[in-house]
Amino acid sequence: MNILLTGGAGYIGSHTIIELDKAGHSVVVVDNLVNSSEESLRRVSQIIGKPVPFVKADVRNAVAMNDVFNEYSIDACIHFAGLKAVGESVAKPLEYYENNMNATFVLLDVMRKHNCKNFIFSSSATVYGDPAIIPITEECPKGQCTNPYGKTKSMLEEVLMDLQKADPEWNIVLLRYFNPIGAHQSGLIGENPNGIPNNLMPYITQTAVGRRAELGVFGNDYDTPDGTGVRDYIHVCDLAAGHVCALQAIERKCGLAIYNLGTGHGYSVLDVVHAFEKANNLKVPYSIKPRRPGDIATCYCNPAKAKAELGWEAKYGIEDMCRDSWNFQKNNPEGY
Ligand code: NAD
Ligand code: UFG
Repeated sequence: MNILLTGGAGYIGSHTIIELDKAGHSVVVVDNLVNSSEESLRRVSQIIGKPVPFVKADVRNAVAMNDVFNEYSIDACIHFAGLKAVGESVAKPLEYYENNMNATFVLLDVMRKHNCKNFIFSSSATVYGDPAIIPITEECPKGQCTNPYGKTKSMLEEVLMDLQKADPEWNIVLLRYFNPIGAHQSGLIGENPNGIPNNLMPYITQTAVGRRAELGVFGNDYDTPDGTGVRDYIHVCDLAAGHVCALQAIERKCGLAIYNLGTGHGYSVLDVVHAFEKANNLKVPYSIKPRRPGDIATCYCNPAKAKAELGWEAKYGIEDMCRDSWNFQKNNPEGY
């Protein structure tokens, strides 16, 4: 298939291009580079040994998106484009609602005008809020999101469900990602956040490389085995492979389908720090800090539905994730 990746220059999108290429698909990337650099695509080209067709455009620009659909014959779209910093979304709610909602509305409208009705959406475990069931299955009711970013994901899921109900020709897969970390084994591409990292793994790798003095561990008084927050970390290459399986579901005309993409294992912040130290033979200085507002104690999934219906499961463990995250950081100490 010929796949449009919006936000394909970003962290998850760039890794997904490689998996799509391996599976024999061709791709077109649209990105406005608001949180990425074209260098990631140059490096993906190096890995796959061919150029990556790229259009620098904002997905909210209907004219530009229409041109993309006129120029390329698109069979399906994977919609990664969006703003994703939780804290920033609390400070800039209008920017987050405007970008994430409007980009999706424009894209869906252009798609239907071109009779392309196959869609994969980057959703998030954040839609479960403080989860009612652990491990989280797809049947777990959605919860209260504590920030505008999470609310855009939850609202867009509702929009997509209504769209598919109104027009059953649409095949829509909502992929609820857990916590992607790691990087491609080549060390050429990986997570490259702007400014001070919000997320745990980039903070750890930047501390290990000497760009940050120490890691702050946000709270050690949660109701978890060691008191620190527990998450389901998944290797970004496993997550990328999940999109290839979701496309197969679309080829089988899945209608609307929802899948958790996680490993099913929960690791605490200190588990991750210790795994990183062991995998890379390094020390990561840290100190305990107050809880971060909006954080929950525990979040990990039951990935059985994705295994049963998509034939997908995570292959990599926490040591692989820690090794590959560090491999990217040490080869690219200042990022791209
Ligand atoms: P990322 O920021 O690296 O990639 C997103 C890309 O979208 C960036 O390249 C950015 O430049 C682009 N973009 C943003 N708004 C755009 C617009 N209006 N037009 C064109 N391009 C635009 O983030 P990522 O980690 O690769 O995440 C990809 C998707 O997965 C996002 O939708 C994110 O919300 C979702 N997600 C990420 C995580 C995570 O922890 N990384 C977890 C759950 C869900
Ligand atoms: N943490 C620290 N110190 C840090 C950063 C994080 O102790 O410097 C802790 C957090 O308190 C939490 C854990 O590490 O317990 C993971 O935090 P992240 O910020 O890496 O990830 P979150 O689970 O908070 O959220 C991430 C994304 C969301 C996405 C969610 C999906 O940021 O966008 O995963 O599960 F929705």
